[in-house]
Amino acid sequence: MGDVLACLRGWHPALALAELQALLPEAVTTTTGVDRWWRLEGEEASQRFEVLEMSSGVQCFLTDGVVASTDGLLQADWLEHMKAYLLAHPVSGSVAVRAWKQGGKIPSWSLSSLAGQLGGLLNDMGLSIDLDVPDHVLALIGDGPSASLACGWMEGDGQAAFSSGQRRAAERPFFKPVSLDPRLARLAVNLASGPKNRGPVVDPMTGTGGFLIEASLSGRACMGLDIHSEMVHGATMNLAWAHDDDVPSHCSVKRGDATRLGDILPEAWIGKVAGFVLDPPYGRNSHGSMEAEQLLEAAMKSAHSVACTDAGFVLILPMHPMTPHPMASLPLDSDISLLNGNWSELLATVERCGWKPLSVHAERVHRSLSRLILHAKYAPQD
Ligand SMILES: C[S@@+](CC[C@H](N)C(=O)[O-])C[C@H]1O[C@@H](n2cnc3c(N)ncnc32)[C@H](O)[C@@H]1O
Repeated sequence: MGDVLACLRGWHPALALAELQALLPEAVTTTTGVDRWWRLEGEEASQRFEVLEMSSGVQCFLTDGVVASTDGLLQADWLEHMKAYLLAHPVSGSVAVRAWKQGGKIPSWSLSSLAGQLGGLLNDMGLSIDLDVPDHVLALIGDGPSASLACGWMEGDGQAAFSSGQRRAAERPFFKPVSLDPRLARLAVNLASGPKNRGPVVDPMTGTGGFLIEASLSGRACMGLDIHSEMVHGATMNLAWAHDDDVPSHCSVKRGDATRLGDILPEAWIGKVAGFVLDPPYGRNSHGSMEAEQLLEAAMKSAHSVACTDAGFVLILPMHPMTPHPMASLPLDSDISLLNGNWSELLATVERCGWKPLSVHAERVHRSLSRLILHAKYAPQD
């Protein structure tokens, strides 16, 4: 009791958890047994507010949220339990109950009927119901795969999707097939950079500027580089488009070489960069300036030379899909088949460049392509 339940979005709970842990490095997360719900302790309310403002994968927080498996549970017992919860967590002002399911229905349990009964309890407690603009929302979430319920007073928007509709990659003025989806781009920026006050973010090979849009919209100081002026021009156009036609001063795009960051970044950023997001060239659409492996190694070394000592690095690379598709984080010694290059050699390169691999995830793109998302941390070099 006394903790907070973090509720993650469904598209990739393991990545969403990694993002949450990066944004709240001091907090302790403990499993509830349901991969989308985690107990959280040791953070401040203001930090949770920042997470809700910035994150891609966190859906909401429930104050002291109650998690119950429906296996063998009687609805009457669950309602009694929720009554005790409501008495132990009194609120004042108007209230509403919001219920939603994730990953399918829980057989024999009707969320709308439970929500109605919770509404009845709140009414009996003398609280006024306001379905439009309540002061407090009691959330009820049904998780189909684990047949479990989570319920509690909610912070955040709940089931609302990560709001990227307006800025889908294909809607931008400058679009290329390499453009990353905003949901993943936002998550990668947060995973790499941690809390906003840690320092600026650099995207050394920015392409159409997908990471920069997300970093700048979340208020992070950020800079993107690209070797090709067409990309610099296009990414700048996209940034202006994302910010009502005006590129904000905390964000910029420059023509430059990812392998020479020290020559391009502002003097004040040297040794201070908190996060790097790197989606290097691959395939026919995105030719690099040197051999792919050589370029990656030089770019990672260059990033290390300008990073702060607790900086993070997220590298995105195409990989062959795994069967079945893994939704959990992958062990670093997994049998990963990159589209280009060898996984264990890549890990060795990452370490040689001064980055310690922390976690790796796969995201499905389509039947014959997945993306590898590697998260690494600055490691001091001799
Ligand atoms: C895969 S794309 C990046 C796509 C990007 N994430 C997006 O959302 O559009 C890789 C980019 O790296 C750029 N590039 C290649 N070599 C570079 C170098 N040495 N320095 C900086 N940029 C480089 C290419 O011009 C290309 O735009």
